[in-house]
Amino acid sequence: MKLAAEQKIKSLRQQIRKHDYLYYVLNQPRIPDQKYDKLFSELKNLEQRHPELITPDSPTQRVSGRPIEGFEQVKHSSEMLSIDNTYSADELRDFDQRVAKGLGTKNYSYIVELKIDGVAMSLRYEKGLLVLGATRGDGSKGDNVTNNIRTIKAIPLSLDGDVPDVLEVRGEVYMPKKAFEKLNEEKEQQEQALFANPRNAAAGSLKLLDAKITAQRKLSFFAYSLGQTSIPFAKTHYESLEKFKKIGLPVNPNIKKADNIEQVIEICDQWEKRRFKLDYQIDGMVIKIDSLDQREILGATGRAPRWCISYKFAAEQAKTKVLSIDVQVGKTGILTPVANFEPVLLAGTTVKRASLHNFDEIDRLDVREGDTVMIEKAGEIIPQVIEVKKEQRHKDAKPFRPPVKCPVCGSKVQKDEDGVYIRCASPSCPAQLKEKLRYFAGRDQMDIENLGPALIEQLVDKGLVQDFADLYKLDIFALASLERMAQKSAQNVLDGIEKSKSQPLARLLAALGIRHIGIQNAEILARQFDSIEKIKKATVEELTQIEQIGPVLAKSIYEYFHDSNNLKIIDKLITAGVNPKQKQTKHSDKLAGKTFVVTGTLENFSRSQIEQAIKDNSGKVSSSVSKKTDYVLAGTEAGSKLDKAQQLGVKIIDKKQFLEMIGK
Ligand code: IVH
Repeated sequence: MKLAAEQKIKSLRQQIRKHDYLYYVLNQPRIPDQKYDKLFSELKNLEQRHPELITPDSPTQRVSGRPIEGFEQVKHSSEMLSIDNTYSADELRDFDQRVAKGLGTKNYSYIVELKIDGVAMSLRYEKGLLVLGATRGDGSKGDNVTNNIRTIKAIPLSLDGDVPDVLEVRGEVYMPKKAFEKLNEEKEQQEQALFANPRNAAAGSLKLLDAKITAQRKLSFFAYSLGQTSIPFAKTHYESLEKFKKIGLPVNPNIKKADNIEQVIEICDQWEKRRFKLDYQIDGMVIKIDSLDQREILGATGRAPRWCISYKFAAEQAKTKVLSIDVQVGKTGILTPVANFEPVLLAGTTVKRASLHNFDEIDRLDVREGDTVMIEKAGEIIPQVIEVKKEQRHKDAKPFRPPVKCPVCGSKVQKDEDGVYIRCASPSCPAQLKEKLRYFAGRDQMDIENLGPALIEQLVDKGLVQDFADLYKLDIFALASLERMAQKSAQNVLDGIEKSKSQPLARLLAALGIRHIGIQNAEILARQFDSIEKIKKATVEELTQIEQIGPVLAKSIYEYFHDSNNLKIIDKLITAGVNPKQKQTKHSDKLAGKTFVVTGTLENFSRSQIEQAIKDNSGKVSSSVSKKTDYVLAGTEAGSKLDKAQQLGVKIIDKKQFLEMIGK
């Protein structure tokens, strides 16, 4: 089953990448949009069912379907090695014996650290200034992600005090658990594939071409080792970590010295139990010889040093009983089955329920009410049913049948084209409306203070609100007539609603709940179109021209703004005074009338920054080279667009020439 899914996922990814290339790079699409969308949603659904198979480079893990033209590759000044793993105390004792033999003495000590589950990063500081951030890649070459890591607040852009001219520091970029949960919540609301764990989320966030989006991802960093330095930096690992702290580099506080392997084992045991209390994920411990001279003596075997070992924790599981299976209705009408459990402690929290994702998943697991099940936390955070103990099943347990009617409004349900999801198709379903309103008023959207779920429940049930725009028609009398609503709190709600009228355009766009359009894509749209009116008029073609808006997003936006019901609500919103305009940031007319195509990687600039600069100076950006193109702005590793420009005799410029043109 899993193998089949794995193969299917692989083949879908290959097909999608091929069509992305044909569509975006060669401008020669071979399949209609609908077919492309079908491949995409098939992959998304499979990945949702097998989150452990999601890889950061999957087409679903991108902000949009647009292919990443890549980051510049950089060679590491010294190899970024990996670590050999152990899984038991005895294996740790074996490691210790090898160390003792290699050193010919028992006189050594260890440093025991948490193994942060993130992405290895090499930071290079020259004269105290951050000049490069590179991922591990294959160990000898990685991706230059300097722009993105500059957005991580924990990474100092300059170091304090007396530092070597060249100082390379290695460490882990990670996403705290809370940020990960929030990101996945957003993705879920936008019906995008979730990240399987914080590590994938961190890796995906680092690989975004738009550093502005990386900045929103709340990544953090711990330094844990030394790379190249122009002068010797320390004699022991412990000393180097102490020095890191002094010069402003964040070091994990849970670092312990151990004089022998039994102490090491004791520390590992303690963390195996306590790890869930941390607000970031760890997947084990790292045990390192402290003396840098002794490390030299031990050396490395192949890809891993002999002076270092990791101790990996086993995933925690718990057994519980499924008390019932509920069906919830989401804001776009998708029905999601949720299992309610006998409460059980798992990985640091009491788990009472878990999403079963969709009805195919119920079939696959064959989970029934009353069943005894094993649960695990995917990425140690999201609880999931992994196995049904069929031998313990009650003989009367009945297979769970997908509903034929919406459990809230009773309308007939429909199967999505791809067959995985079941939706309540009724536009007037109160459950959908409540979810939509909750999302609209949410902190990252219109941020309407005092308009919480309980109030929304009443507003919908009493028929006072039938769409977003009705919120702006509420008056003090209607509100004060509701339960537990005094005059003063009613006024607070009205004030919150009034205040939301001045939210920026991007927030309003995000609040509408357009499929796939969360705040990040909404910001891209707002920057491009600067008013709802203009977005309403945009064609699919215009939308796809925008960096990071792929065919799936373009179609979703276009369809939203061509639905008569949505347009009615938008008109009502505008009449009610909710009509934000994007601030104009146009700087000059220096590039007026000129069309640019940008290709390749431009050092220190993301693609969208460059495109924004072109637009800010009144130039036009196009994605394909033609005779009408005035300039091709080419960075490193520019591909077929550069060839085409040469064939057509279009003027090719580099970053320096471009900056001169705009007077920078
Ligand atoms: S030391 C040669 N220390 O684990 C050893 N690595 O599985 C250099 N990691 O690629 C790495 N926490 O990304 C070290 N405290 C820690 C670590 C750590 C997490 C990661 C690192 C490495 C991977 C190996």
